[in-house]
This record gives sequence, structure tokens and C-alpha cells, in this order.
Amino acid sequence: MARYPWDSTGRAWSMSLFQAVYAHDLGTLQQYTVAIATRAAKIPGNISFDEAATLPSNIATAAIGIYGGRLDPPGARGPYQGAGYTAPWTEGGIGKYKYQPIVVIGGSSSVGQYAIQLAKLSGFNPIITTASTSNEEYCKRAGATHVIDYHATPYSALPAAVSQITTEPVELVYAAISSEEAQRAALEVVAKSGYVVLTLPPTIGALGERSDGMKVIFVMGSVNVPENYEFGDKMYAALPGLLARGDIKPNRTEVLLGGLAGAPAGVERLANNSALSHWFRNNGNGSGSKKPHDGLSKKFDTMVDMAPEKPRHAHADQFFSTKQYNIMVKDCFDAHFCTVTSAWAAAQAIPQQPGVEGLPSEDQLALLAGVMFEGDDLFQDVYDNWCQSFVKKGGKLVEVTLRAAFTHAVYHSQSDEFKKSLKQELDSIYDKAMDTYRQLLDSADAEKTPEYYHEMQSKAPHYLYPFAEHMSKRLGMNVSIMVYGPISAQEGAISVKSIHVGTTNDPASLEWMDAKPEACEAMVKSMCAFGEQCFTPEEHAACSSNHRVELQH
Ligand SMILES: NC(=O)c1ccc[n+]([C@@H]2O[C@H](COP(=O)([O-])OP(=O)(O)OC[C@H]3O[C@@H](n4cnc5c(N)ncnc54)[C@H](OP(=O)(O)O)[C@@H]3O)[C@@H](O)[C@H]2O)c1
Repeated sequence: MARYPWDSTGRAWSMSLFQAVYAHDLGTLQQYTVAIATRAAKIPGNISFDEAATLPSNIATAAIGIYGGRLDPPGARGPYQGAGYTAPWTEGGIGKYKYQPIVVIGGSSSVGQYAIQLAKLSGFNPIITTASTSNEEYCKRAGATHVIDYHATPYSALPAAVSQITTEPVELVYAAISSEEAQRAALEVVAKSGYVVLTLPPTIGALGERSDGMKVIFVMGSVNVPENYEFGDKMYAALPGLLARGDIKPNRTEVLLGGLAGAPAGVERLANNSALSHWFRNNGNGSGSKKPHDGLSKKFDTMVDMAPEKPRHAHADQFFSTKQYNIMVKDCFDAHFCTVTSAWAAAQAIPQQPGVEGLPSEDQLALLAGVMFEGDDLFQDVYDNWCQSFVKKGGKLVEVTLRAAFTHAVYHSQSDEFKKSLKQELDSIYDKAMDTYRQLLDSADAEKTPEYYHEMQSKAPHYLYPFAEHMSKRLGMNVSIMVYGPISAQEGAISVKSIHVGTTNDPASLEWMDAKPEACEAMVKSMCAFGEQCFTPEEHAACSSNHRVELQH
């Protein structure tokens, strides 16, 4: 993206967004660059320069994956550019897929956010996505109708969760997050003739059309490869309108100080933030919470203190799985699972009795019960247990479930000596993590620097949002948290940081600052004025990110 003299007036909105290419003349991070005019879009006035930066790669990846067509000849990633749905910028495309379900895995990711918004424009319904509970509202604002917390409902259970939401076949699964477990779930969820769009290379099986008709696509999220030129031209022609109308909204952004030099700290923060959300999930009211709810004020105290996360002592068999799965379990399990899969396929081919839908028939059971694993009692037990629960509940064959049970059994079959040495290793890892944790607690009382304030203020949305969300749910009210004081990134000037949870109930569904901008502005002004009374010039200066530079001069 670059500043671009779109017209001779050189007005502030005369900027364009485009997707850069890894080449000197077409790349970014330089004063001047070249963009292909047909694949550049004017940034409308309602979108900031920073927000526009979230668009090019992410929306291309989402849009090409859903709307790109079949390629002839095949492109760099096979015969499918995308799942071939009609784009909303093509005539008849808006709302075309009414009542067709879609599953977007990883809805709170940048790519996932755009995939959800595009799915909404296309009319898909329900739009089912996976994300942490703390991002449920974010995904719903984008258009998701159902958000499944992948921590509380692991990917192995996703197919069952989806089938509780819709009985329609899911013809399209967009895996913005394409981890192996997500891929496995996508393949289980999708209908036989459907499409699975991946953002990473497939780790299970091949690309393209499979023998059962399912299409697996690894999207090339660039409009600057020849097979995507035409698609890119059309999408970029439509983008300014989509953005100006608010049909597509940019991702959440946060500007880091220091230009490129700010990037490493930003990456580090991403890692910290995931620890933070982890903390909230395990202590808050999220559906993943296993602990009883503790007091609201205690939660707030802990969040304000930004308490470092206390290490957990993993279970020995989990540690065994992480360390030894590939060495001691994988080959054996894969071989056995092959046998189970073919028995299962044969059993499924036997027609069910009318009226007993979902439950296994006698013939199916007989076939499954007859499977033996010569010389391997361990796996036989695991498999027999699975068969017994199949008899009671019916269901599907879920590889992850069998694999976990088999790994568990292999661990327990090891000698006491082996288990003891594994436990010692685990204890020593835990002790080291506890040492680091104690050091972090000690350093919490250290002198506060401008960098410290900047970092804490930048993290504010990540811990205030879940807190506001929690209050909103508890109180059944819309919640706005506004915090005022010297803002590090604004050279210590008094300003307000705010988080809003809850929207109006009318069809436009607006947050406070959009529904009543004058009221919100007046509140900010009033808080800033009060802030001026509360903080001394020294306190402003101590917070300023220029403070250190000034002192050095
Ligand atoms: N093929 C291409 O051309 C192309 C182009 C762009 C990106 N990509 C790939 O697309 C993927 C997404 O990129 P991005 O930039 O959109 O990611 P991102 O914004 O960095 O994604 C971060 C979010 O992913 C979510 N997440 C992490 N693990 C998850 C899981 N197991 N299930 C569901 N959500 C999970 C987390 O959400 P919560 O906080 O809600 O847990 C996190 O906030 C990456 O793998 C990237 O490499 C591919």
C-alpha cells in the first residue's frame, strides 16, 4: 500500500491500497513503489491508512479461496484457484447462497475475518466459525452466526458440534487456520462433493479432486500471480464501494511505535497476548473454564496487575505424547488405524434398518466386532472400547479419539523406571518455568519506564475487552470502559482508551461511538479535561515515549 496521487488535488484521501510483490520495484517499505493500476483501489474516507493495510493479502486469500474458479491449465497450486462460488461483485452474487451453511475455521484471524464478511455478503447461513470465546463478539460482528470455542470443543468434536447447528450438507469449509487438526476436522465436516479451502499446504492427503468428489484447495492469496490477475482486477474494482458502504470492514488494528524497529516487539507481544487470552480462558467465565467462578473484583485486580501466567504442571501422559508420539506410537497406530478405517468403511456400506437412523445396525456391529489385531492386545483393547461406546451411542469414527486412547495405553504399558525418568524430566521443566515465573513476579515492582507504559497501554484492549464482555454478560447491559490519562504514544498527552461491548438492537447494530458519535466525543472531551486536573506535567512527561530520547539529548 502507498500514498498515491490519485488526482491532481492531492487530497488526504488520495491514497490507494494494493498488494505488494516481493520485487524491488513492486515491493513496499520504500519511499516510492509501483502498483498495477487495475489491482489498486482508492481508500475511501471512512477507512484509515492503517486499517487499509490489513486488507490486501488477507482479503485476497479469503476471496480467491471462496470465489476463484477452476484453472485450465492448472496453476502453481493445482487445478483449483478457489471453490468457484459467484462473487458478490458479480451480478446476482449478493445473497446468492441463502440458507447454505459454511464453516470458517479460525474466524478471528485476519483472513478468517474477511472470509466471514464475504460469506455474509454471499448470503451463507448459518456461518459457523471457530475462535476463542474472547473473540466471539468480534466474529459475530463480522457476520458469524455461531462461534465455537475450539479450546472447549476440540477439533475432533467439531463435526458433531456442526451437525447440531445444521442438518444441511456443508459444501464449503474455509480453513483460515489450517493446522493439521483443523484440516482433519474440515475433511470430516465437509459434504462428499464439497470444497475444503486451506491456507496452508495440505498435511492429510493430496490437493485437487479426490476419488469421492471432495475438492481440496490450497489457496494462493495473491492477486499478482498470472492465474489470479483477472480475479484481482474484478475484486479491486469492487473494493472501494464495498469499503465505503461498510459491506467490508477492515480488521482490528493497532499501530506500533518505531516503524520497522517496532516489529520485533510486536511479534513478541503476539506471543504474550496468547498467554494472556489463555489466562482469561482458564480463569474467566468462558465456556472453556473449568474452575468455579471467582469474584469479579479479583479478576479485575489480576488483569490490572497483568499477572504473568503461572506455569502448569502437565500430565505425564501428555508429556509422553508430545515427546514420544512420533517415535513410540505413530507407526503402530497408523498401521492399526488403516485396518479400522477399512472395517468402518465396510460397516458403513451396509444399509441401516428403516427407523433406526444414527444407531449401528446388527450387521454393522458384527463386522466391527470381528476386527482383530494379531499380537497387539493394547490396540485391541482400545478398539474394543471404542466399539462398545459405538454400540451405545452410534456416531462416527474419529481418529483423534482412538489415537489419544492408544497413546494413553502405550504410556501406561511402559516400565515404572521409564515413567519415573519421564516424570523427572517433566518436573525439571516445570521447576525452570516456575523460576522464570518468580523472576517475572519480582520484576513487576521495578521502576516504570516510558516503554513499560507504552507496552501496557498497547495491551489494554486485550485484557479490557474480555473484562468488558464478562461484565456485559453478567449485567445484561452494554458496557463501555473508558480509561483516561497520559498516553505514551501521544507524547504523554491526556487522552482516552476505550472498549465498547454491546450494540444497538436495530438492524444496523451499532456500537456507542457510531450510534451517538456526539455523545461519545463529549464524554471523551470531559474525561480529558478531568484528566488534565489529575496528572502533573511530570507525569505526562514520564509516560511520553519521547521521554528517554529527550533525556539523552
Ligand atoms: N495461502 C496464502 O496465500 C496465505 C495468505 C495469508 C495467510 N495465510 C495463512 O493463513 C493463516 C491465517 O493467517 P492470518 O494472518 O489471518 O492469521 P492471524 O490473524 O495471525 O491469526 C491469529 C488468530 O488465529 C486464531 N487461532 C490460532 N489457532 C487457532 C485454532 N487452532 N483454531 C482457530 N483459531 C485459531 C487465534 O484466534 P483466537 O485468539 O480467537 O484463539 C488468533 O487470534 C496463517 O496460517 C497464514 O500463514 C496464507
